[in-house]
Amino acid sequence: MALLFISHVDSPDDWTRAFAKLMPELEVRAWPNIGRTDEIEVALVWRPPRESLLGLPNLKLIASLGAGVDHLLRDTLLPDGVPVTRFVDDDLTAMMREYAVLHVLACHRRLPEYLELQRNGQWVELPQPLARERKIGIMGLGVLGGAAATRLAGFGFDVAGYSRSAKSLKGVTVFAGRDQLKPFLARTEILVNLLPLTPDTESLIDREALAALPKGASFINLGRGGHVVEADLAAALDSGQIKAAILDVFRKEPLPAESPFWRHPRVIVTPHVASITNPESGARKIIENLKRIRQGLAPLNRVDPTIGY
Ligand code: NAP
Ligand code: GLV
Repeated sequence: MALLFISHVDSPDDWTRAFAKLMPELEVRAWPNIGRTDEIEVALVWRPPRESLLGLPNLKLIASLGAGVDHLLRDTLLPDGVPVTRFVDDDLTAMMREYAVLHVLACHRRLPEYLELQRNGQWVELPQPLARERKIGIMGLGVLGGAAATRLAGFGFDVAGYSRSAKSLKGVTVFAGRDQLKPFLARTEILVNLLPLTPDTESLIDREALAALPKGASFINLGRGGHVVEADLAAALDSGQIKAAILDVFRKEPLPAESPFWRHPRVIVTPHVASITNPESGARKIIENLKRIRQGLAPLNRVDPTIGY
């Protein structure tokens, strides 16, 4: 019995150690050294090559190494009937909640502007609204966006969220469906993106969406680079429509040297590190799902490839 590990960015070593401890009979094989194809029961993947998941007759589970599955649904051919799951884990949620809070507080307390003033040797006191006077908007109210939204509401911010379907979250005003996107954006001074990347959300944050925000809004992208039309964001930063941006994800990663975001005075770039999958808890989740499947139960956190998340 074996697990096939496919990723060009993660090392299999920590996963091999985690599975050796928790399920020693499950051998971890790193792509492309797949060995006997009929022994592979699980594939654990990040952006797997197009045909890498075909021809595995006993494959029971395709597990995404991340919470997002766009890397898997976009170009990879999926074998019929094999469930695809995404990564959902308390540690991953806690890290993302922390990152969202960190950067919302930074934008609220005007840190990107103070960093620019410092670089210019300027001592200037900027007006500072209270948290209850600050309108935060979270795009995506799932596991990660929901956790960030409720924690930010706990700081006393005026928090709204945007999702596909209506829902009830303590302290959060919910805007649901595409016809509520504009009103949601119009009231949002600090926008946090935590949507999944799907055909519906691709390039959603474009010139029109950025123009719908109040002038001088801040933007924090923790979702995917593909949500943003990067040239439109760069133009909105140059015009002052967007005052500051904190960007963790990009269309092309690593971010190319020629990107204007590296050098913009009010942009903070981080290298896709908002929240990171932990192999030990990840291995536990995969083992739990494998056991469920062997017992004829549906795996947890299954994604619907037809809607993309
Ligand atoms: P999730 O639980 O599946 O939640 C997705 C949310 O987005 C749901 O609230 C969903 O609405 C909403 N949504 C989906 N399509 C929409 C649309 N067309 N219009 C409006 N709302 C829409 O996902 P999650 O676990 O919170 O993860 C979100 C994303 O975070 C991942 O897909 C990944 O791209 C990103 N991520 C980034 C990092 C990083 O390090 N930067 C780390 C982990 C994850 P409903 O509630 O109505 O279904
Ligand atoms: C990381 O980006 C993830 O999807 O978990």
